[in-house]
Amino acid sequence: MKIKEKLKQLEELEKQAILGGGEARIKAQHDKGRLTARERIDLLLDKGTFRETDMFVTHRCTDFDMDKQKILGDGVVTGYGKINGRNVCVFAEDFTVFGGSLSKAYAEKICKLQDLSMKMGCPIIGLKDSGGARIQEGVDSLAGYTEVFLRNVLSSGVVPQISAIMGPCAGGAVYSPAITDFVIMVKGSYMFLTGPDVVKAATHEDVTFEQLGGAMVHNEKSGVAHFAVDTEIECIELIKKLLSYIPQNNLEDPPVIECNDDINRMDKELDDIIPDNPIKPYDMYEVIKRVVDNGEFLEVHQHYAKNLIVGFARLNGKSIGIVANQPAVLAGVLDCDSSMKGARFVRFCDCFNIPILTFVDVPGFLPGTTQEWGGVIKHGAKLLYAFCEATVPRVTVITRKAYGGAYCVMSSKHTRADINFAWPSAEIAGMGPDGAVKILYRKELKEAKDPKTLEKKLIDEYTEKFANPFVTASKGYIDAIIRPSETRPRVIEAFEMIENKRDTNPPCKHGNIPL
Ligand code: HXC
Repeated sequence: MKIKEKLKQLEELEKQAILGGGEARIKAQHDKGRLTARERIDLLLDKGTFRETDMFVTHRCTDFDMDKQKILGDGVVTGYGKINGRNVCVFAEDFTVFGGSLSKAYAEKICKLQDLSMKMGCPIIGLKDSGGARIQEGVDSLAGYTEVFLRNVLSSGVVPQISAIMGPCAGGAVYSPAITDFVIMVKGSYMFLTGPDVVKAATHEDVTFEQLGGAMVHNEKSGVAHFAVDTEIECIELIKKLLSYIPQNNLEDPPVIECNDDINRMDKELDDIIPDNPIKPYDMYEVIKRVVDNGEFLEVHQHYAKNLIVGFARLNGKSIGIVANQPAVLAGVLDCDSSMKGARFVRFCDCFNIPILTFVDVPGFLPGTTQEWGGVIKHGAKLLYAFCEATVPRVTVITRKAYGGAYCVMSSKHTRADINFAWPSAEIAGMGPDGAVKILYRKELKEAKDPKTLEKKLIDEYTEKFANPFVTASKGYIDAIIRPSETRPRVIEAFEMIENKRDTNPPCKHGNIPL
């Protein structure tokens, strides 16, 4: 064949590959309001930067007449390119090819990309749209999945991994995103291990795709997903925004952008944000927004365990992770779900050199059988563990309550936090006044003629003693009491001071976080 003919052949084959499962299936995808794999990649990457890999790979299955149905590239589009000028690896599952189901060859394409991203130290993004294991391939498909999962695990903490669920994500397709750092779900997408039909057969439960594993189910109830978005375009924009806060890999620092918000900006309103009544709530989002650059906060897990807020912001143009109790929800109490949410986020920040700012207003851990039986001891221990092992720069601000075990957990000085501030409104004590008085004065209250009045008096005395940060400051457990209005400049200065922090954990294979 002459070179001209060879070039023509290449062009033909490329055209064929680009059509994936064919025009009818592309139309069906569009009719569902969904984009195709290649359209999604085009939107995600900087114009003209996508370089496809393994475009001509085909599956090798011969059962069920599959040898007569080969499609170039099989069910996944893989490659690399740039987002805002930074390298990324990307794969997009192609629902037009066997419902995006995973064959061994398809898995090998993803594995190659995962190996590339790990060696080159760049994030890897998976755009998911798949019916799970390619049923015709049997154990080959399971083998392929497991090879992908293995690489998800080995990449964890080395390069950022982001999954966007844009259609079905069924069966074996779920475990790769579950291991990645962030899962974004588009409205109308769903994730489940076993679909409604199997659920019905196994448990007689009638359930729709949406009820079983819709975007809000995994954002609000299971916590499997970190973000919910209405459209694919929003999803693409969110991926870009998320990447802007995080480094390319564990050996790099996050990108720094120019800060156009005054780093010495004082905020008088913060002096009045804590209500006089200690049990009255206020909104921690207000505090966060008033402190960070331009009030910009990218919340993670916004719909899950709302009593704890986590997310990304910038101070003086530098990325930080924020962990904050939310007194406006369940009084900011820590429980099973919020502890897990916080722990996962703290560990992400620690993996990727993102300093952590913690705002504390927590009355303790939520009491009760639901929590105790649900394992609040082990889940609370996850957050404690995560803060204790974190070696990134850490600044903590106690705005109001820091009671009991929750004081210890929330990036206290004793967990190796670097700079710990308290506002004058801070209340730091071994436990909340009501509980403490009941234990300390059990006998006196039992014998008192008017136990109610005595109890109130004792609670007032206890509160008076601990409803300030000075006892704790006198012991050196906080470094400074700061005015709320000066929080922004003080935390910026503090992070600047600890920017070059060096700290390590004792060498070992890995710790044994209580899972
Ligand atoms: C092979 C599949 C497939 C699969 C879909 N297709 N899923 N082919 N293996 N897993 C094919 C269909 O046959 C169809 O082919 C095309 O993809 C589109 O599928 P439809 O069913 O027409 O689409 P839709 O109505 O939108 O439904 C999407 C769906 C459904 C809900 C995802 O396809 C479905 O239920 N699929 C199976 C999901 C599932 O149970 N997966 C678990 C597999 S076992 P044609 O030729 O008609 O276009 C597993 C275990 C692995 O994953 C565990 C590893 C840890």
